[in-house]
Amino acid sequence: MPTFVAMKWTFATSASTGHVTAVVKPTSSEFSTDLATMIEARAERGVKGWLHQVAGAEQFVRVLTSKGDAAEMAHSGRKAGAELAGLLSKNKISNLSLEAGDATFHVAEGLALAAYRYTRLLGKKAKEAWTLDSVEVVGLSAGDAKRLEVLMAAVTEARDLINTPVLDLTAEDLAARAEELGQIYGFKVTVLNQAKIESLKMGGLLGVNKGSVDPATFSILEYKPEKAVNSAPYVLVGKGVVYDTGGLSLKPSNFMDTMKCDMSGAAAVIGTLCAVAGQGLPVHVIGLIPATDNRPGGNAITPGDVITISDGTTVEVLNTDAEGRLILADALHYAKKYKPQLVIDLATLTGAAARAIGPNATVAMGNASREVWEQLQTSATNTHERLVEFPFWDEYNDLLKSEIADLKNIGGAEAGAITAGKFLEHFTDYPYVHLDIAGPAFLDSPWGYYGKGGTGVGVRLLTDFLTHVAS
Ligand code: BES
Ligand code: ZN
Ligand code: ZN
Repeated sequence: MPTFVAMKWTFATSASTGHVTAVVKPTSSEFSTDLATMIEARAERGVKGWLHQVAGAEQFVRVLTSKGDAAEMAHSGRKAGAELAGLLSKNKISNLSLEAGDATFHVAEGLALAAYRYTRLLGKKAKEAWTLDSVEVVGLSAGDAKRLEVLMAAVTEARDLINTPVLDLTAEDLAARAEELGQIYGFKVTVLNQAKIESLKMGGLLGVNKGSVDPATFSILEYKPEKAVNSAPYVLVGKGVVYDTGGLSLKPSNFMDTMKCDMSGAAAVIGTLCAVAGQGLPVHVIGLIPATDNRPGGNAITPGDVITISDGTTVEVLNTDAEGRLILADALHYAKKYKPQLVIDLATLTGAAARAIGPNATVAMGNASREVWEQLQTSATNTHERLVEFPFWDEYNDLLKSEIADLKNIGGAEAGAITAGKFLEHFTDYPYVHLDIAGPAFLDSPWGYYGKGGTGVGVRLLTDFLTHVAS
């Protein structure tokens, strides 16, 4: 099981001596005359970004012009922080004092996101691996430092889970980690085991699990503060396929290599609960995580099999690689019993979503009110975890008609991300948003503030969204 040692964030009113410092100001003239001259000379040569000064007290300095609205400023701050992470890593600096005025929170956030490393399995190489151990955030309030610490720890938890190979993260391991995190951050976790899942007749989850030697799990996470602003809960559902081989509809190996990431939706739900509970937001949130691996084992479901979801819907499985929608169907049906205010699912659901927009955004669709969409889009802009809304017209349902069952689990060659979403909608009776995170969840090459691997996308977006709901 992954263990995570939190980076230390201390807040301070002024920089303590002995640390390498990083200082950000809105104009070069706010630095000492020497530094200002150097910065301006570089700018004339077209060199922007951090100036690394080694003579005397080692420091990194940078100008960050305040332009654009708050969300744009936040994004530039994070980008500057991410650049700084690159320099710290190159220079093997693990402890830093950061002073960036109004931009401190976001520069530190970008720094933490870009400094993330998955080091647990490095073995002999672990000794040489650079890590960022502590950052002193000068000028930040104690409250903001705490908020940042919890948020970054939550994103890190999600990323560690995504990056952990299936050998170390079966469905039961995922559930066990959720339980541990519930203890640490203060939310309740109930894990339904295989026998309970059978008694609930979750035929989607059980069907996908048939080719596996490991039992499935269904985890229920709940954070219910006394002073919650909502009477009906927000329910978050996360796809927890701990490894997706495709099943009998086996993936070609180059498409399979990264499929430990197929529980990124589950990781985002767990991470969001950590952030919301850790910050004590007054909002009642429930997380639902159906989990299993998808393998072509002895008893695996076959293309042509018909399975029955817990709501009684029969599904003709024509491609066992479209497994995410089968396990999510049971979870979305289960969510009905909460009479939720809103249900949002997060899933690495379709290659079609990834092909449509790449890592740049999450493909979003659903039938929630415009008000919900506007708030989600505001949060997407605030966090730079962008959403692109796809249509959700009922005409797409025609592509899911089966000759022998209520539905089939694949649509046609076109609109694959949308037909997957419409399949899921069949199991809902509440306002619903579907987030297909297949593009941004896991990176093959660095993008934005992130290096390769799991990004934890969804955690910052939904935490921002629930923060607005709570206020
Ligand atoms: N887990 C995959 C989707 C995926 C692809 C996630 C790339 C992340 C990156 C999903 O289970 C899948 O295989 N979907 C199929 C559906 C198809 C058979 C209808 C796909 O997209 O090819
Ligand atoms: Zn699949
Ligand atoms: Zn999958």
